[in-house]
Amino acid sequence: MRTPIIAGNWKMFKTLPEAQALAREIVAGTHKGEVEIVLIPPYPFLSSVADLISGSGIELGAQDLHVIAGDNEKLEHFGARTGMVSAPMLKSVGCRYVLVGHSERRQYFGETDHQVGLKVRAALDCGLEPILCLGESLEEREAQQTLSRVATQLQKGLRLVPQNEMTRVVVAYEPVWAIGTGKVATPAMAQEVHAHIRKEIAALYCAMTAQTVRIQYGGSVTPDNAPELLAETDVDGALVGGASLKPESFSGIVAFNER
Ligand code: 13P
Repeated sequence: MRTPIIAGNWKMFKTLPEAQALAREIVAGTHKGEVEIVLIPPYPFLSSVADLISGSGIELGAQDLHVIAGDNEKLEHFGARTGMVSAPMLKSVGCRYVLVGHSERRQYFGETDHQVGLKVRAALDCGLEPILCLGESLEEREAQQTLSRVATQLQKGLRLVPQNEMTRVVVAYEPVWAIGTGKVATPAMAQEVHAHIRKEIAALYCAMTAQTVRIQYGGSVTPDNAPELLAETDVDGALVGGASLKPESFSGIVAFNER
């Protein structure tokens, strides 16, 4: 039995007072039951949001992490890297989760599958649980490359993760063409890719591991479309962008899972 995980990725939105108000309203208005809820604010607001959600059962996540890879991929978590934030820093301000390989990181910051694999390793090394994001572009979908693209991202993202650590990894399937566009994957499309990801995890590890890993769907999730997406067998929650910025819509997505 996989506990659904609903995460709100606030991306580069909100000022500190707005972020605090949003966190307060989510704590007050969201019924927490059999669902895990994660708030993922921008870096400068992490400590403050950590305080506001303390004791509520809601978890904290970060949007990215930095790691320095030396010879033989020896990982360093501290160093002269102006502007960057590493896994132990995130852990020390109360993060449990961290997004790795979000498509916006890949698209705008040139993050490669190789770097994503190192970041997943860095997160696990420092006691964080990575949410490994993957998904195809519109061109890849139209060229029937969705399943192969997602499988490659998965294999490379998990290349440094042994089986015994897979219980600490969450996968998020986010088709790039559905992010922030209002174009949501149909439940059948999402289920097809989620089932494929689970099959690939079974091939990389074993069937039991594949059954325990949670796979979130992300891309224009709203309270209206969440029920049918989340009803699919292999959809174990949602990674929500735009709709997580309004307390009532985020709580509405969580509420469906409570029924
Ligand atoms: P939207 O819900 O705004 O489409 O964003 C999805 C996303 O990228 C979450 O990480």
